[in-house]
Amino acid sequence: MSRIGGPGPAPGPGPGPQVRPRRLRRTPALRRLVADVRMHPADLVLPMFVREGVDGPVPISSMPGVVQHSRSSLREAAVEAAEAGVGGLILFGVPAHKDARGSAADDPNGIVQLALADLATEVGGDVVLMSDLCLDEYTDHGHCGLLTVDGEVDNDATLERYASIAVAQARAGAEVVAPSGMMDGQVAAIRAALDGEGFTQLPILAYSAKYASAFYGPFREAAQCAPQFGDRAGYQQDPARSVGEALQEVALDLAEGADAVMVKPALAYLDILRAVADAVNVPVAAYQVSGEYAMIEAAAAAGWIDRDRMIAETLTGIARAGADIILTYWAVEVARGLQARR
Ligand code: PBG
Repeated sequence: MSRIGGPGPAPGPGPGPQVRPRRLRRTPALRRLVADVRMHPADLVLPMFVREGVDGPVPISSMPGVVQHSRSSLREAAVEAAEAGVGGLILFGVPAHKDARGSAADDPNGIVQLALADLATEVGGDVVLMSDLCLDEYTDHGHCGLLTVDGEVDNDATLERYASIAVAQARAGAEVVAPSGMMDGQVAAIRAALDGEGFTQLPILAYSAKYASAFYGPFREAAQCAPQFGDRAGYQQDPARSVGEALQEVALDLAEGADAVMVKPALAYLDILRAVADAVNVPVAAYQVSGEYAMIEAAAAAGWIDRDRMIAETLTGIARAGADIILTYWAVEVARGLQARR
């Protein structure tokens, strides 16, 4: 980061003031004093998986330390997260039965709706309850929307499903809905549906700039939602497009009524995050996704890296790039560490 005033004279003997940036780095206390980026537990959101029909937590092999929760283990973990001071939880459901239209997604007795109601009772008011709003966890084909007879994702038919899911999640107790399916017009459709049912005060956190990413790999095991054919490149953004497309997506979502926007993944998209943060006046979230988690955990397990420093450094980089809110699977651990250091 350049400072106004320029670098000044070079160090070494000579007249005038000697500019030595190292002076401010000399001790931990000095570094703490001048730090610009500070994390706070309230800025962190913990993604959680809840699976129908299991008695206890089921480990996710590609995300060591993360589990698919049962309803009761979810409640316990949510209480721990709230006690650690995290700002929010975002819930993903893994239903026992999937079908072509993702019926479980808006079923009032679907796993996410039941879990949202549980959490509203358990931690409501202490932490913001968010729900991911998409179809891929619920469809048997694994795509984020309904399919046409040709096997393509049908944008406008999918919007009707998203509208219905939004209302089901709101009725169950979601305090923020987060559409992640990248259908054109999804925010407008969801806003209209929520307003029509009286949920005019329920915010939408839009996954606005979401890229077709290999970093989602472990999530697809976690949510059991790998596409059964093809990929998501027909609706998620191409990593090779430049920042202008992301800004267009963000502008569309804001015009449709999004209250906050998200960039996802985080680490490989910090340029996008910075540009979005500079362009908007609403809160900007960034999602440190499953693959970002897995690669650090795997390298740490191999003894190749300093795990804790790498977690802190990646989160600091994401915050420095402009994220107001960070979704991370390390939210509770990091929040506890921040609490302990205060
Ligand atoms: C879609 C969704 C995905 C993630 C969050 N919401 C998967 C995808 O788009 O393929 C990925 C999150 C992660 O990788 O941690 N409902």
